[in-house]
Amino acid sequence: MPENVKISFAKLPAAPEGVVVLLAVEVAGGVPALAPSGDAVLAPAGDLFVRAAGADRFEGKSGSALDLISPPGIGASRVLVVGAGKAAEMKALDWLKLGGAIMGRLPSSAKEVSLVLDLPGLDVPPEAAAEIALGLRLRAYAFDRYKTKKKPEEATAKLKATLYVADDAAAKRAWKKREGAGEGIVIARDLVNEPANVLTPTEFAKRAGDLAKVGVDVEVLGEKDLKKLGMGALLGVGQGSAEESRVVVMRWNGGKEGVAPVAFVGKGVVFDTGGISIKGAAGMEDMKGDMAGAACVVGLMHALASRKAKVNAVGLIGLVENMPDGKAQRPGDIVTSMSGQTIEIINTDAEGRLVLGDVLWYAKERFKPQFMVDLATLTGAIMVALGTEHAGLFSNDDTLAGRLFAAGQNTGEKVWRLPLSSDYDKLIDSRFADMKNTGGRFGGSITAAQFLQRFVGDVPWAHLDIAGTAMSSPANEFNKSWGAGWGVRLLDDLVARDYEA
Ligand code: BES
Ligand code: MN
Ligand code: ZN
Repeated sequence: MPENVKISFAKLPAAPEGVVVLLAVEVAGGVPALAPSGDAVLAPAGDLFVRAAGADRFEGKSGSALDLISPPGIGASRVLVVGAGKAAEMKALDWLKLGGAIMGRLPSSAKEVSLVLDLPGLDVPPEAAAEIALGLRLRAYAFDRYKTKKKPEEATAKLKATLYVADDAAAKRAWKKREGAGEGIVIARDLVNEPANVLTPTEFAKRAGDLAKVGVDVEVLGEKDLKKLGMGALLGVGQGSAEESRVVVMRWNGGKEGVAPVAFVGKGVVFDTGGISIKGAAGMEDMKGDMAGAACVVGLMHALASRKAKVNAVGLIGLVENMPDGKAQRPGDIVTSMSGQTIEIINTDAEGRLVLGDVLWYAKERFKPQFMVDLATLTGAIMVALGTEHAGLFSNDDTLAGRLFAAGQNTGEKVWRLPLSSDYDKLIDSRFADMKNTGGRFGGSITAAQFLQRFVGDVPWAHLDIAGTAMSSPANEFNKSWGAGWGVRLLDDLVARDYEA
């Protein structure tokens, strides 16, 4: 994993080097306050900070910053004072955003930055320091491997960031727990950004195989295996592609032996042309990201294994390419899923549910999990309903749904629950088979979820429709990437809070 920012921790220094970052807290009606260490850094510059803060109306609000360029009498080339709001009210997400905002303000020529994480009358918690480090890393992410003409500083720039904290040993430990999540997000972003001529199902499976390095057990099922299992729905989607389909099973056993695993299932359509029900040309290139659910599952498994999460977790991804071809499936075809249920294909572009139906069923039968959460860029309709700020959440279990909602609030990867109800079933009943794969225009995300529910039995299950959040979603302080790596922090948080022994 290439590290774009080299992170280290040290005790608060006398004279920090390079670009120096200081924290300031809000003071009602006054100049924001620095810690004594910050005051000491700025002392040679006299009243520069007070005057600049006044001129720039810098109040120390969380996320705001005051840039002091070549301050007189100070070795540092610039001092960036960033607001920590009312410090005590800062949550993990605020520190993460702060780290991202700091990275965003550094000149691209910066080689070294010293972050003096010291607050008046208050130690910055080690976890906050780790979140800031994560923010630096995530903001610095760039998918530029196909740019052959990099500017010299882009080609070589590797920023050295030293985070100065009171308890550097504790901060180091907190970072060790957090660093894997950062790597997991980067893995997910890379997979989503990667074009489909490179990232075939076979190549995707190979990259998932890299998880073995962090102790994940990876098993790849090829078409022969899938046929034997009877995954006719998944195989039907892939049959028009020159690329073979795959299912990858990733297992991390960090919990007690014999405890049922938690299961994560991802849609991995490496490219979705729509198949014979082909999509229009405009924006079709975005369909290289139709594997974002699977990318998240891979990133999550990396995160869990890297921090040696005390949980038994299994990740399953269905990898196919949906292409039109002489061998492609047609509208009107009837396929038999692994569950034995038959499906009439109405629209070959409603392929994600076909893939997930088989993988969910397989996950349930083989692993008898405590719960299953699937992630899928499943419907355009979810963007009509929720835009790009919330993912759609559907669940047959109020406890699981509540925990996912809470994890969304904690991490900023927000989810909003929509209904499941047997009243929608008639929309997907088929004249010729047990069900059909589309339910018409109305409630398109709900009928898709209702379809998936037919493959989960009694297992507590949640479906996240991430079509609006996983790619091309709004940039924020710590993400400028097209593929956001959405869901890794959400599900890592869910596991950490509610499912670790
Ligand atoms: N992968 C698409 C959904 C999608 C659309 C994701 C835009 C991200 C951005 C999915 O396979 C699809 O084509 N869904 C159809 C379903 C319809 C045919 C019932 C849709 O949403 O139009
Ligand atoms: Mn489709
Ligand atoms: Zn799709």
